[in-house]
Amino acid sequence: MAETTSDPPKQYVQSHAAHAFVQDLLTHHGVKPENATIIAKCLVSADLRGVDTHGINRLPSYLARVRAGVLNAQAEPTLSQLTPVVAQVDGHNGFGFLAAHMGMHSAVAMAREFGIGMVSIKHSNHFGMSAWVVQQALDEGGMMSLVFTNSSPALPVWGGREKLMGVSPIACGAPGGEGQMPFILDMAPSVAARGKIYKALRRGEKIPGDWALDQDGQRTEDPAQALKGVMLPMGGPKGSALAIMMDVFSGVLSGSEFAGGVTNPYDPSKPADVGHFLIAIKPDLFMDLKEFKERMQYLHEKVVGCERMAGVDRIYFPGELEQLCQVEREKTGIPYVEAEIQALNKEAELVGSQRIQSVSSK
Ligand SMILES: NC(=O)c1ccc[n+]([C@@H]2O[C@H](COP(=O)([O-])OP(=O)(O)OC[C@H]3O[C@@H](n4cnc5c(N)ncnc54)[C@H](O)[C@@H]3O)[C@@H](O)[C@H]2O)c1
Repeated sequence: MAETTSDPPKQYVQSHAAHAFVQDLLTHHGVKPENATIIAKCLVSADLRGVDTHGINRLPSYLARVRAGVLNAQAEPTLSQLTPVVAQVDGHNGFGFLAAHMGMHSAVAMAREFGIGMVSIKHSNHFGMSAWVVQQALDEGGMMSLVFTNSSPALPVWGGREKLMGVSPIACGAPGGEGQMPFILDMAPSVAARGKIYKALRRGEKIPGDWALDQDGQRTEDPAQALKGVMLPMGGPKGSALAIMMDVFSGVLSGSEFAGGVTNPYDPSKPADVGHFLIAIKPDLFMDLKEFKERMQYLHEKVVGCERMAGVDRIYFPGELEQLCQVEREKTGIPYVEAEIQALNKEAELVGSQRIQSVSSK
């Protein structure tokens, strides 16, 4: 979202061009076209929403894993129906996007029929920005959702000093009032997502001093030093407990890795074995949909219309900043720095796929 220090010049790429680039790059790596479409949509939606840390710039790290043989680009997830409202997906070490997409599709179908659908996902990989899974539940069925994942160790538990828990995001959503944006919360339990440190490193920027400690336990503004150290949990023991919660629901329950066992998405030495946990809920279970939406509208009005603290011009509903960003970027294109475009084009050159088409620079 907001730049942390200087703002380097950007090249603007239209979302359809970014999508076409990803689609072609992935199919050149053996991903089936329909699967490449799903992955491209998820990655480009992160860039559109301003979650630049989890967009198409993640491709070089994913593809390094494919080339190293630790992520199977051709794997298809499989689903087992365990009860009418519970399913299990095995990602078979394919792209996390595909396993989560299959899982949420199934959760929505179950919720449509029975009010709720729960899916546990094992043997998956990093699925990027959680909000796309929340959006899928909204788009496919107007469903409320909970979207949990675990991730590789980056955060000490409260009182500890070694990396143990992942900076594992907690996401959830609900349809908004009539004509209103939905409620979408998508937050990592650290002061900042680790992807923001990778982004600062890519862009040659400093990070705020309260995000991470270096390997000697000192606060640092240098992203390279921060990546050698630990992320700081938000709210001290509370952020640490939320990270443990993600591991209980996504790792322990699913049968995937947990307790520090998930491999870092930038480490191409072994499979990641990420777990996810998804729930879809029909919003009109306890009242009709009209009343639910009126109540969401009332909540939205109370939240954004409440008395503001000094120095605050506007109050935003969770997910609103990202949705405003998306509206803007659909018009202007998505801004990338030159080094990011070069890294992506280098990937394209390796396999002879199309280069990324930018429309303007400023
Ligand atoms: N897959 C993974 O393993 C993984 C790991 C870490 C993070 N992530 C992703 O990284 C992304 C970034 O996470 P983050 O914690 O840095 O997000 P963030 O801090 O930018 O936003 C967190 C939440 O707070 C809301 N918010 C932010 N500013 C606000 C404001 N001024 N007013 C009202 N609401 C506001 C946002 O809408 C969002 O729902 C997420 O999309 C997350 O899914 C993924």
